[in-house]
Amino acid sequence: MRVICTERSQVLGARVAQVLKVPVASVAFSRFPDGEQYLVAGDLDDETLIVASVVDNDALVQLMLLADACEPSSTRLVLPYMAYARQDKQFKKGEPLSARAVAKALSRGVTEVITVNIHDPAVLEHFTVPAKNISVAAEVGAYVGTLGLKNPLILAPDDGALAFAGQVAATGGWEYDHLDKTRLSGMEVRMAPKNLCAASRPVVIVDDIISTGGTIVTAAGMLYQQGATDVYAACVHGVLTGGAYARLISAGVRDVISSDTIERGCSRVSAANTIAAAVRTP
Ligand code: R5P
Repeated sequence: MRVICTERSQVLGARVAQVLKVPVASVAFSRFPDGEQYLVAGDLDDETLIVASVVDNDALVQLMLLADACEPSSTRLVLPYMAYARQDKQFKKGEPLSARAVAKALSRGVTEVITVNIHDPAVLEHFTVPAKNISVAAEVGAYVGTLGLKNPLILAPDDGALAFAGQVAATGGWEYDHLDKTRLSGMEVRMAPKNLCAASRPVVIVDDIISTGGTIVTAAGMLYQQGATDVYAACVHGVLTGGAYARLISAGVRDVISSDTIERGCSRVSAANTIAAAVRTP
């Protein structure tokens, strides 16, 4: 087996290969003068593991080209981050079910798909090949443990992320809860932990994705007003669009931690061991 990766997943791909003790296949990426992407895959074995996060449209097309280039080999796809997964329902007539469109396109040419903390596991049903989802909550929890926080409260921004918060909290035996929104007036919303108190303790807000950072910026301000000593933010997928990282830090968030499903300067948690374990498990 060889691991092959797209440009946006080079570091994670190499880490997965290192854990699996298999070589990394090289790929030369370039573009035609009109901007179309082009690539040439190096030598492949009978079995190939593609590691490729779809972080944007270019990454999606690059992955489709790479999967096609790998066709002579039996190929599995690790999709650490899947853009378009949040449009997982047709909310209005005429909308696409984008997650389904992308899942179907990415099923072509591969025998299995492995996702990491996909936004909604229901998306897996849209792949036309067997698909499984794995979680790096334990790795996020292990990193939170290294911060040396005293009695931290692990907080999900909404009840949808509560299970993830619970898995992170379980690694350190910490308390966890989710934020509850109360509309005080047309303009005013109050966010506070549903059942526990944030006063006089550090809080770690955990979520699958930090995108604009808007949710956490608002929550951090309110948690400080409620007496939290320090607010941290941790996520699996650091989308961090529109200057989100700086926005979070300027809002007083002490540190922003993400995994390498999207390779960022703040990717302090690696999904490599969890991915390798899932690849080894039939
Ligand atoms: C949404 O359902 C996700 O789980 C995240 O909570 C969301 O993407 C965060 O978005 P933002 O960082 O833009 O507030």
